Amino acid sequence: MILVTGASGYVGNNLVRRLVQAGKPVRAMVGNVKKALTRLKDVEAKIEIVRGDVTRPESLAEWMQGVDTVIHLVAIAVEKGKRTYDTINYQGTVNVVDAAKRAGVKRFLNMCQNGASSDSKSRFLGSKGRAQEYVAKSGLNWTAFRPSVIWGPQDEFANVQARLIKMTPVIFPIVGDGKAQFQPVYVGDVVEAMVKSLDDDSTIGHEYELGGPEVLTYAEIVDRVLKALGTNRLRVKVPVPVLRPLVAVMQTVLPTPPVTSSLLDLLALANVTQENGLISKFGIDPKPFVPENLGYMKNFNSLTTLGKFFGKPTEESGVISTAMQK
Ligand SMILES: NC(=O)c1ccc[n+]([C@@H]2O[C@H](COP(=O)([O-])OP(=O)(O)OC[C@H]3O[C@@H](n4cnc5c(N)ncnc54)[C@H](OP(=O)(O)O)[C@@H]3O)[C@@H](O)[C@H]2O)c1
Repeated sequence: MILVTGASGYVGNNLVRRLVQAGKPVRAMVGNVKKALTRLKDVEAKIEIVRGDVTRPESLAEWMQGVDTVIHLVAIAVEKGKRTYDTINYQGTVNVVDAAKRAGVKRFLNMCQNGASSDSKSRFLGSKGRAQEYVAKSGLNWTAFRPSVIWGPQDEFANVQARLIKMTPVIFPIVGDGKAQFQPVYVGDVVEAMVKSLDDDSTIGHEYELGGPEVLTYAEIVDRVLKALGTNRLRVKVPVPVLRPLVAVMQTVLPTPPVTSSLLDLLALANVTQENGLISKFGIDPKPFVPENLGYMKNFNSLTTLGKFFGKPTEESGVISTAMQK
């Protein structure tokens, strides 16, 4: 049995579906069962969906029973109240690792992040780096993945640009100088690498950076999104310090803001792989982030976009409002 934490998340629901396709038995651990039932509807009958909270170690032991492999995906990119990078990204990982060890789990896959390091200036990347250090010292048979930004129909990066473009008729603001570099990697390729590593013991004890076939600047990403939408905008560069107060207000007012202060920080950091394990280790031909592959963005509209920012469920994201969660 494979226990997947964060199974209803963006990477999670894609991974669970791929594991089911590969004939693997899956226990999907989620925080929000309603969201999981929406996102995993098509495979619900073939998996076990359980509710667990990585910040509550006592909720984990039960779900480790009969499990030989744990795939740990839970992390937050936006802090809210008690849901901090430290409690969820770092301590949550510690709790899952400890529970896995106590239960005698044989294999552990950890989802890290390209650029994550315990000494990073970004608190988000720092928490992910410390979590991976803990995994690496755990004594478990671990493998870790460090993707650059992941794109696909449910992503929260390229799709945010697409939604904002739909809402800005003439001018589109480019954050900073637009030169920050990314290597967008397709979600299907990321989960493929993870599934491959399960049956490949040579991946044990290794961390793999995963990237797409091209390095693109933020401005180039926006250009491709504009092409995918078949539209154009006057692009205006807005310095980060000018955007900060606006983003701070947005963060207070909107339940699901499109941009947050910590995401602004991340936009300033290069997110490019040194060695792309997707190709060099897993032999996957990465799907390019090109307009022809982004057709799904055309379905976004201003109404669903506004609804999403205000926390309403949308079909393309599967997001369930905070009010419905508990
Ligand atoms: N998306 C990217 O571009 C990207 C790039 C590199 C690495 N990653 C890594 O990939 C992993 C998955 O990211 P994602 O984009 O799929 O994020 P996501 O969609 O936000 O999924 C994360 C899931 O974690 C769950 N979760 C949060 N707090 C929890 C808690 N206390 N206990 C149990 N579950 C909790 C949430 O489940 P509920 O909603 O059910 O509570 C959420 O669905 C993360 O480790 C992230 O750092 C992502």
